[in-house]
Amino acid sequence: MELQLKHKKVFISGSTSGIGFAMAQGFLDEGAEVVINGRSGDRLRAAISKLKQSVSTASVSGIVADFNDPKAIDQIKQQLDRVDILVNNVGIFASKSFEETSDSDWLEMFRVNVMSAVKLSRYFLPKMLDKNWGRILFVSSECAQLVPEDLIAYSATKAALLTLSRGLAQTTKGTKVTVNSLIPGSTLTEGAVKFLSDRARLENKTEKEVAMEFFKQTRTTSLLQRFAQPKEIADMALFLASPLSAATNGAAIKVDGGSVPGIL
Ligand SMILES: NC(=O)c1ccc[n+]([C@@H]2O[C@H](COP(=O)([O-])OP(=O)(O)OC[C@H]3O[C@@H](n4cnc5c(N)ncnc54)[C@H](OP(=O)(O)O)[C@@H]3O)[C@@H](O)[C@H]2O)c1
Repeated sequence: MELQLKHKKVFISGSTSGIGFAMAQGFLDEGAEVVINGRSGDRLRAAISKLKQSVSTASVSGIVADFNDPKAIDQIKQQLDRVDILVNNVGIFASKSFEETSDSDWLEMFRVNVMSAVKLSRYFLPKMLDKNWGRILFVSSECAQLVPEDLIAYSATKAALLTLSRGLAQTTKGTKVTVNSLIPGSTLTEGAVKFLSDRARLENKTEKEVAMEFFKQTRTTSLLQRFAQPKEIADMALFLASPLSAATNGAAIKVDGGSVPGIL
């Protein structure tokens, strides 16, 4: 399928690794021009060089901006005037009980996960509407609906993104701009790999055994019963970002391996 993404300009928040990085790779494979983001110049340069190695024609650059810093949006504004596709991907979490989750934990997760998306959308959406074409994608999580007990604050940020996404979609009525959310499930990013290898070492098990236990004991509702690969999430993002997805607007698309029960 030709996704018609050639020369589209894409910004992906939090994309030096994990799902955002896989999306960057996918967009570059399709001939898009990609701007990635992370908190440090070193990590950004390493990610850009990896992307250039895997896609020889890659048109990729990076912007250092830490979304925990309210000034991050100004750093983006200084370096990026417009994009065709905005992916609000950055997301952090802290696995803690509700009692242990401090005000500053709550505020940091809302600043990084929600306010980054609010500010980026407020900057880029009017330009997309002026041009009468654009795509905004929000990266939510299965946690918005499963709400694990140790991830209540994170889950609340991911639910907020779904509301924000639907609300912004409603402002695009009658235009060629769409706004949608992706709902990934447990995905084998660097963080998940570290979780598996730490737990395996601690419990004297193989990583495969730990992963199987995770789905038997923790993510019991998963139909996939394995971690998704970042590329499996990225592929859905590419379609939603493509002109081919014009009839999908205001939607929340699950890529959760079936972990959120229910028919919708
Ligand atoms: N992985 C999963 O199982 C899973 C499941 C459902 C939903 N999600 C969601 O998918 C999205 C991507 O998750 P992921 O697991 O791929 O993430 P990840 O592997 O933890 O990647 C984090 C990325 O975000 C950047 N980052 C972290 N804090 C930042 C900040 N304050 N400002 C700017 N960049 C920052 C990191 O860059 P530097 O380190 O270079 O600064 C890195 O590029 C998140 O929204 C997450 O909630 C993930």
